[in-house]
Amino acid sequence: MKFYILTLFPEMVMQGLSTSIIGKAAKKGILTIEAVNIRDYTRDKHLKVDDYPYGGGAGMVMQAQPIFDAYQAIRDKIGHKPRTIYLTPQGPLFHQAMAKEMAGEEELVLLCGHYEGVDERVLEEIVTDYVSVGDYVLTGGELPAMVMVDAISRMVPGVLTNQESGETESLEGGLLEYPQYSRPREWMGREVPEVLMSGDHVKIQAWRREQSILRTKKHRPDLLKSADLTIKEKAFYRVNE
Ligand code: ADE
Repeated sequence: MKFYILTLFPEMVMQGLSTSIIGKAAKKGILTIEAVNIRDYTRDKHLKVDDYPYGGGAGMVMQAQPIFDAYQAIRDKIGHKPRTIYLTPQGPLFHQAMAKEMAGEEELVLLCGHYEGVDERVLEEIVTDYVSVGDYVLTGGELPAMVMVDAISRMVPGVLTNQESGETESLEGGLLEYPQYSRPREWMGREVPEVLMSGDHVKIQAWRREQSILRTKKHRPDLLKSADLTIKEKAFYRVNE
């Protein structure tokens, strides 16, 4: 899978994505991450990429031409119109199912805005999806783009060494993950739950399922309504009340 990140801060994005699991997958060639510097495409002799907003108001607006030319270079290279995501608090909220769905794309272009906004006309011309990473305003789209690349990449086959972990972790089936424990058996007077030491995998699985449901009910009751629960589970955990 190939990611093209249109940004004014390519070093920020590349540094953030060159380590750990994502960095390793990129080195192996499972992923390609390319930060495209929008400023490289300006036709302004002072390398300007922004200007004052028509109609007045605070801040500057990113101009259409450099963004479009940077996008066009990608489009020419891959030979078709790519799915292009604009990171903005005005988009629908990013979530796990979206990450999974987008992991099926051959390539994704992520457009990072800055200043007060981006000229609407280039958004109309190139953007296919608007996405927000949360109901707060950041100074630019770079961190959201990195969040998206990370979440999408780990759903790409081969990126996680144990493919299982991509499927069973938090938010799969709409539930939070069960608690995990490792050695030692007792730490600061706290014992590992007995069931995990039993070797009874059916019991362990049932305990983990219960923990996932209880946790979701406590910390994210909003998720529980659309989680994959059996009718029995719904009744037992009083989900519809
Ligand atoms: N750009 C600024 N804030 C953002 C947010 N919350 N999500 C996506 N892009 C953004």
